[in-house]
Amino acid sequence: MRWFHPVVKVYYDMPRIEEKLIIKALEDAGFKVEPINVTKTPLPLSGIQEHIALIRAVSMFRSTYTAAVLEANGIKPINSSFTIMFSGDKVLTYSVLAANNIPIPKTMITLNGESAEKAYAEMGFPLVDKPPLGSWGRLVTLIRDWHEAKIVIEHRSMFNTPQMKVHIVQEYVKMPENRDIRCFIIGDRCLGCIYRKPSEGEWRSNVALGGKVEALENCEEECELAIKAARALKGKVISIDIFESERGLIVNEVNGVPEFKGFMRATGVNVAENIAEYIKAKVKR
Ligand SMILES: Nc1ncnc2c1ncn2[C@@H]1O[C@H](COP(=O)(O)OP(=O)(O)OP(=O)(O)O)[C@@H](O)[C@H]1O
Ligand SMILES: [Mg+2]
Repeated sequence: MRWFHPVVKVYYDMPRIEEKLIIKALEDAGFKVEPINVTKTPLPLSGIQEHIALIRAVSMFRSTYTAAVLEANGIKPINSSFTIMFSGDKVLTYSVLAANNIPIPKTMITLNGESAEKAYAEMGFPLVDKPPLGSWGRLVTLIRDWHEAKIVIEHRSMFNTPQMKVHIVQEYVKMPENRDIRCFIIGDRCLGCIYRKPSEGEWRSNVALGGKVEALENCEEECELAIKAARALKGKVISIDIFESERGLIVNEVNGVPEFKGFMRATGVNVAENIAEYIKAKVKR
């Protein structure tokens, strides 16, 4: 007997390797897949037929708005608009994590340059300053003294978008070899974790900046924390970035539209296939 094969729509803007792998894995699992370019397709607030929706636009706003419109149509996208928006904006992420008693770096939010100076004075150097929005490590800055501090404030004041004038002022967490940890969660299951180590001459570990990846052998503790963070953000397909600090493991970041090519390379785990399996299990239920 053939089981019911519903339509899965994959909402994207710039297809990356991840979107291609997801589409192939879904087709291999027997789904009818419809890729939808959200930059070319109007999204009506009512009348969209029921389907399974996977949100994969690179732009956080495109992903959030697509999810919100689908929700208005009674559809529950993976991930929800809440998850994508609260993961995509670091002020919102840290606020949800802190509200759920999940350990995070010591952090102060300042809404303009003047209050950022006060936060710098209180935090002490070295410290990290990052804007609420951004990815691939862009504008995440290590500040070692007042000379650097003044330049960061000046540069950020030149941006026209209000969010970019917001400074997330954070303790600089000294980690072994500057590496951090990324765990991948699907549903309530942790697929594993990897180390990300900065490339030569870098302090940020982003794979997009040449960071090297390596699988963790035993990652129960990391997975446990990652699952807690995923629950706090209500994420179904989500990655969680963790730092090893003197206070133990702390969560730095959450990705609601996660990339996974580095994770797949390091662990050999086929994330796209796991996403397809997760959707299949949900449909059968
Ligand atoms: N407080 C901190 N202490 C030490 N290192 C940090 C700190 N914050 C960030 N970093 C380093 O900078 C990198 C980039 O910072 P972060 O993950 O916060 O932003 P992002 O990578 O630009 O965001 P996204 O992952 O959404 O693309 C981290 O992976 C880590 O290597
Ligand atoms: Mg990051």
